[in-house]
Amino acid sequence: MHPTPDFFSIPVPPVADDLPLEPFAGEGAWYGPAMKQRAQEWQMPFSEKQIAVLRDAIESAEKAGLGPLDLTAANFPLPGWEDLFASTKKDLFEGRGFILLRGFPVDELTALQRAIGYFGIGAHLGRAVPQNAKGHAIGHICDIGVDYTKTTGRGYQSNVKLNFHTDSTDIVGLLCVRHAKKGGASRIVSSATIYNEMLKRRPDLVRLLMGPIYRDRREEVPVGQGPWYCIPAFNPFRGRLFTTYVRSTVQKATRFTELPPISPELEEAMDLLESLAADPAYHLDMDFRPGDIQFLCNHFILHGRTAYEDYDEPAKRRHLLRLQLACPDGPALPPVYENLRGYDEHGRPQGTRTPGVSLTAPLEPIDGGPGAFEQRKRKE
Ligand SMILES: [Fe+2]
Repeated sequence: MHPTPDFFSIPVPPVADDLPLEPFAGEGAWYGPAMKQRAQEWQMPFSEKQIAVLRDAIESAEKAGLGPLDLTAANFPLPGWEDLFASTKKDLFEGRGFILLRGFPVDELTALQRAIGYFGIGAHLGRAVPQNAKGHAIGHICDIGVDYTKTTGRGYQSNVKLNFHTDSTDIVGLLCVRHAKKGGASRIVSSATIYNEMLKRRPDLVRLLMGPIYRDRREEVPVGQGPWYCIPAFNPFRGRLFTTYVRSTVQKATRFTELPPISPELEEAMDLLESLAADPAYHLDMDFRPGDIQFLCNHFILHGRTAYEDYDEPAKRRHLLRLQLACPDGPALPPVYENLRGYDEHGRPQGTRTPGVSLTAPLEPIDGGPGAFEQRKRKE
């Protein structure tokens, strides 16, 4: 039983039992312990000169009255950063799929200056897209006590462990403003490695993850899309593996009576994927320091985090700023990726673009109580 929705969607056929499968080779299929030994390749401290250029750019943008959403690569020039941006894109789209930039001057900037600097850097990699149905282009990753088990509950608003998943855009960025008292490590894994390891053990389950999997939009329905959608987790395309996976949305989609239940085999496949990803033989942990910016390409990396404990004082609690970027020069995507969120005018995943909702850049967590306010809307 595979329902055809009345909203637009690319059909997803099941995969034949005898489809031959090959492992994926190349830089994208890395192993955590070996990658840890090569930290100098993926930990990139900004130079003093780059930071001085960044400070000047932030000051100029602020003087010109530009907010984070107004910034483009053209109006936020960062001379001397060209090689860094070129190598970052190469790493994210053609190589290992992630990078950790270090030394963004979080402590010396106001919340607005911080957002300007972060979005300004992001504007050289892609365009910020809405991360939720409220149109937020800055995601505040902090514990505001949300119940993650509810349909609309989102794990990033709690302090729980987050299971391995992908976000829906080309790049996700995390800027660490403050780290936790304990825990909260970012945990990432190569999805090609997980595919390869599953293939050695259970090729039948790999094929299942290449077939129809239904996911709940959790009441965040972008323009032209329906309340649920269908997309395989593993999508081989033009010699590379594209992975999209959020188990909580698969589980939440069972509330739609028109959808088939999750089969025991699919549960087994998701269990195997996650148990491999959770194995220290495969993943890489990163402890963020204030001023760290992690950029990942969601198509090639699964991410999660360990649970954490905060300091009692609100001003010391863990706080990361998330940026979701659509990248016009990102890799060509499997056609079925249109089902994810739909595409923007450049043919990239558009984020949670919701009818009648404008993009905003809240400088503080909106649900964070007194003092929270929204940055003015993008000028368009
Ligand atoms: Fe995520």
